[in-house]
Amino acid sequence: MTSRDETIQLHDTYLSRHKLPLFRQFGWDVVEGKREGVFFWDVNGKRYFDCHVCGGVYNLGHRNPKVIKAVSDALGHLDLGNHHLMSTERSRLARKLVESAGATSTGERMGRVVFSSGGGEAMDFAFKMAKGYTGKSKILCLEGGYHGHTGLSMGAGDEKYTKAWNYKPEGFMKIGLTDLDRIETFFDDETAAVSLETIPATLGMNVIPRETMQHVRKMTREHGILLILDEIQTGLGRSGKTWAFQHYGIMPDIFATGKGLSGGIYPITATVYRDEMERVYEQNPMIHFSTFGGSEIGCAAADIVLDHATDPEFLAHVNALSDFFRDAVDDLVIQSGKVSGIRQVGLFQAIEFVDVSTCISAVARLNANGVFCVFSNNDRVCAQFMPPLVMTMEEAGELMTLVRQSIDEAEPRDLSSSDFFSTQTEARITSANRHL
Ligand SMILES: Cc1ncc(COP(=O)(O)O)c(C=O)c1O
Repeated sequence: MTSRDETIQLHDTYLSRHKLPLFRQFGWDVVEGKREGVFFWDVNGKRYFDCHVCGGVYNLGHRNPKVIKAVSDALGHLDLGNHHLMSTERSRLARKLVESAGATSTGERMGRVVFSSGGGEAMDFAFKMAKGYTGKSKILCLEGGYHGHTGLSMGAGDEKYTKAWNYKPEGFMKIGLTDLDRIETFFDDETAAVSLETIPATLGMNVIPRETMQHVRKMTREHGILLILDEIQTGLGRSGKTWAFQHYGIMPDIFATGKGLSGGIYPITATVYRDEMERVYEQNPMIHFSTFGGSEIGCAAADIVLDHATDPEFLAHVNALSDFFRDAVDDLVIQSGKVSGIRQVGLFQAIEFVDVSTCISAVARLNANGVFCVFSNNDRVCAQFMPPLVMTMEEAGELMTLVRQSIDEAEPRDLSSSDFFSTQTEARITSANRHL
C-alpha cells in the first residue's frame, strides 16, 4: 500500500469520513508531503503552488528559514512559558503589535494585547471584551461572515455553521453588506459593537468601499459603539499595508490577528484593544486566561512575522506582485470570456468568474494543474487567490501561465447532481466591489 492510500484509509477511519468525497470533486484530496517556500508537494511528488496558504498562515512561505531559525533558537532555551507569570517575550511582542497599528491623523492608537492560540479564540475574546466593557449584549455582524468555529465567534458567523450543531447563539444580529451604509439604523440601547472582517474572505473578498467603512467608523464613534475588526486573514502585510484597516485611514477599537502570526510554524493569535478597556479587569484581574495563548515559542515566530509585515520594502514587493496579478487577470477578462475581474487589495485577492459553475470547474482545473486554491464558500463565483507574499516575480509569471491554462480548460459544470451545491447557500453577492 502506498503511503497515500494508507493515509487516506486512516483519515477515512479515524478523521472525517465525509470530507474526502467532496474534496475529490475539486482535486483537494491531497496528502501533503514536502513543503518549501511557495510550494508544497503531495506524497507522490506532485508540486503545487500554494495559493490557499491556509488563509494567510503561509504568508511567508512554507518553512520560512528565518522563522525556523527563530523558533529553533527559542527551543534552545525557552518553553511555552507559564501564563500566570510575566514573560519578556510576550511583553515585547505586545509592544510590537500595538506599535504596528500606528496612529490615525487624530492621534488614536491601540493600547494592549491579549494572546490566544487560535483565531476563533482571539475573536471570542474580542466579543467578550466588547460586551464586558460596554455592559451591553448585542453585536452587529455580517451575514455570510466568518470568524471561526468556537463559541462566540461561531455565533457571529453564518447561520449554516450554528444550525448544524443545534447552537442558538444569542446577541448576534446579522446585517447585509449593503446595510453598512445605514448601520446607524440598526443601533439600539443594547448594541455593544459592530464586528467585521476588514475585507470579508469567506464572503468572496468583496471589498468594503472606503466611504462605507469610514461611515461605519464615524457612526459607531458618535453612538458610543465599538468597532471590532477581524484581521485574521487580511492582516500582517497581506493587503499591501501592515493592517488592512490602514487602507481606510481608521483605527478600530479592537482587532484580532492570527493565522500568519504563527509564521506557519507555531500557533499564536492576538486580540489588540484600546487602553481604556483594561478597566474591565479592575474588579477581578483573574477573569481571563489562556494556557497556550502567547506561548514563548509562538512569540519567537511572531516577532519575525511582524518584522516583515512592517518593513516598507517587503510591503512594496507585495504591492508590485499585486499590480502584476491585476494586469494579468484584467487580460484574462478580455481573452477568456470566463473571468469577470479580480477582487483585490494587495495580495488579498480572488478571481471572479462569470458564474458559479465556471468557477467550480476552474478551481478543479487549477488544482489538477498544480495550483492549490479554493472557492469562497459564501460566494462561490470567486476563487480565492492568495499566493505567499514572498513569491518572486519569476514564480508569479510561472503561476499565471498555469492559471491561464486552467481557465482555458474550465467548462461550466452541472452542479445540480452534487448534494453539496444543491443543498447549500448559493452565491449571495450580485455585484461585488472589487477594489478600494
Ligand atoms: C477571518 C477569519 N477569522 C477567524 C478565523 C478562525 O481562525 P482559527 O481557524 O484559527 O480559529 C478564520 C479562519 O479561517 C478566518 O478566516
